[in-house]
Amino acid sequence: MLRFTKTKGTLAATALGLALAGAAFADPVEDELVIEAEEGQVEIVTKTAPPAFLADTFDAIYSGWHFRDDTTRDLERDDFDNPAMVFVDRGLDKWNAAMGTGGESCASCHQGPESMAGLRAVMPRVDEKTGKLMIMEDYVNACVTERMGLEKWGVTSENMKDMLSLISLQSRGMAVNVKIDGPAAPYWEHGKEIYYTRYGQLEMSCANCHEDNNGQMIRADHLSQGQVNGFPTYRLKDSGMVTAQQRFVGCVRDTRAETFKAGSDDFKALELYVASRGNGLSVEGVSVRH
Ligand code: HEC
Ligand code: HEC
Repeated sequence: MLRFTKTKGTLAATALGLALAGAAFADPVEDELVIEAEEGQVEIVTKTAPPAFLADTFDAIYSGWHFRDDTTRDLERDDFDNPAMVFVDRGLDKWNAAMGTGGESCASCHQGPESMAGLRAVMPRVDEKTGKLMIMEDYVNACVTERMGLEKWGVTSENMKDMLSLISLQSRGMAVNVKIDGPAAPYWEHGKEIYYTRYGQLEMSCANCHEDNNGQMIRADHLSQGQVNGFPTYRLKDSGMVTAQQRFVGCVRDTRAETFKAGSDDFKALELYVASRGNGLSVEGVSVRH
């Protein structure tokens, strides 16, 4: 059951083995990310000033990349070493495959994947036509079903993750810039509410870990600010791609709560809110985490 309560945060933190005394605190690593890519070097903003609404919360916002060990960070410096590129390549094969019921491919309507440049940086967003908050998965599925006559792709299916990897890479190096005002405002507020709500037996919110305790060691993990600018990410532990939606499920599950579903309206709103906390960081395209 999901429940809301304002107490017991410290207890829960202790239960999780957070070293709140500060002994196990480790600063985010001072480092810079410049990616060697086929098209040349791509500079990635992994640390920057927080968006206005977080000005009193953080001195700086950091990509999760800063909290990973040297080996993991290095894998992202060169596309030849980045294990996520395999999935980008698979996405490109699918992009060009005539899989629609009328023989259409993504390419037959959109040309090359570079036509998607910039899109990842503004996702999620309220769609002008539907008036609804859409995540990238929704846009892909709209084409898969309505324009190609296929069955919907699961939000965590291989097809979907390969395609998200390909599309995301087209915005690599661009600043995350999701809209939070106008029609996005109610969704953003809803996402914010989820972010600060304590869930599960451990009664912990996203903020308890990623805002109050980032920099601390939790078990063997160096706790980051929980940014989504790097997603989809290749997770070494899973030997595969993980989307932001999937990551949220994992994090909520760690608090021993029954979680919202990947692709649910609640998690879409949460993705908007979390993405906005990273406004100004670069889209990493496809990142590597452990
Ligand atoms: C009990 C502590 C805890 C809670 C609560 C928690 N997380 Fe996490 N989260 C972690 C740990 C540990 C990791 C892996 C190390 C890291 O990147 O911080 C992680 C990773 C992440 C990442 C990946 C960051 C990256 O760059 O790879 C995101 C995004 C994230 N969490 C979002 C959330 C959201 C949203 C919530 C609330 C629904 C949440 N987390 C709740 C512990 C927590
Ligand atoms: C029959 C033509 C057609 C096919 C095939 C097609 N699309 Fe689309 N797609 C469109 C149209 C039309 C739009 C809406 C464009 C707009 O609203 O400006 C769109 C929009 C999108 C968007 C949102 C783009 C944006 O800037 O808002 C994405 C992402 C997308 N398609 C991905 C795909 C993928 C991935 C495939 C293959 C699996 C695919 N599309 C196949 C016609 C197609």
